[in-house]
Amino acid sequence: MSTDEPTTEPAWTLGRLLTWTADFLKEKGADSPRLDAEVLLAHARGCQRIELYTAFEEEAPEALRESFRDLVRRRAAGMPVAYLVGSREFFSLSFDVTTDVLIPRPETELMVVRALDLAKELEDGRLKIADVGTGSGILAICCAKYLPTSSITALDISPAALEVAKSNAVKHEVNTQIEFIASDLFAARPAKPEFDLILSNPPYVASEEMATLDREVRSYEPRLALDGGVHGTEIIERFIPQAVERLRPGGWLLMEVGPGNSQRVEQLLAAAPGMTLRKTISDLAGLPRVVQGQRIADG
Ligand SMILES: C[S@@+](CC[C@H](N)C(=O)[O-])C[C@H]1O[C@@H](n2cnc3c(N)ncnc32)[C@H](O)[C@@H]1O
Repeated sequence: MSTDEPTTEPAWTLGRLLTWTADFLKEKGADSPRLDAEVLLAHARGCQRIELYTAFEEEAPEALRESFRDLVRRRAAGMPVAYLVGSREFFSLSFDVTTDVLIPRPETELMVVRALDLAKELEDGRLKIADVGTGSGILAICCAKYLPTSSITALDISPAALEVAKSNAVKHEVNTQIEFIASDLFAARPAKPEFDLILSNPPYVASEEMATLDREVRSYEPRLALDGGVHGTEIIERFIPQAVERLRPGGWLLMEVGPGNSQRVEQLLAAAPGMTLRKTISDLAGLPRVVQGQRIADG
């Protein structure tokens, strides 16, 4: 072979782009670099991730490479994939997310599973449910979707988060079932016993621990969604008495907690007049995750 022959760089096929990007993101410290690369490429290409698998040999057009490069650059700087692609799956439904809302976490699915189980036990076809600190709307929307005769009140102190929740409710065609209210906890609702089920995944990170969170969480997710004040339970301490007043006799309060503050939240709930503490539910890692209490029935 002549040494004068020009060397040609191999074409940027989708497969090569993915391999290169996965290596690059790995170097930058991403936890799941190959998955991130695939999700971002599928987003840039406007296809499902699975469709990439039959297109590895396809050459990537320059426009695709450019939009992919931009996503990879931002990912390498630490922006979570969900914000880059604008959505995250939760309980098998796709939810739009912006930086105004917390990215839905898999462990929060436990709250939905428990709520659906309780709905069967409560045996009232027209349950009234509240979701306090609704964020992207995941809890309210999953309940509305799987309990179609229930009516839901979704509250959040952040008007920007409520806009995201409302648009997710429209996307999942449950917007007529959910009332959205901008409110500091239950402040905007009368203190009367109207709910069968109150759900909340409140901010529960202790203020002093905020600086120790992963960079991705700390730098991109809303502080309002995370910072639970001193010991991480300041908001929960205000919330419990408000929730108790608004529960019907026999109704349930479910709260997601951090493993570090579950005991404190259990104590608060056990001490709340009119409530019985029920068994805390652990997540798949065996960590306490959903603290629950039941309103004592009158009489
Ligand atoms: C941990 S996020 C949970 C979001 C969503 N429910 C989820 O599980 O992904 C907490 C939410 O509570 C809201 N929030 C914080 N303080 C609040 C308050 N005082 N009253 C109502 N909502 C509040 C935040 O805006 C945020 O959307």
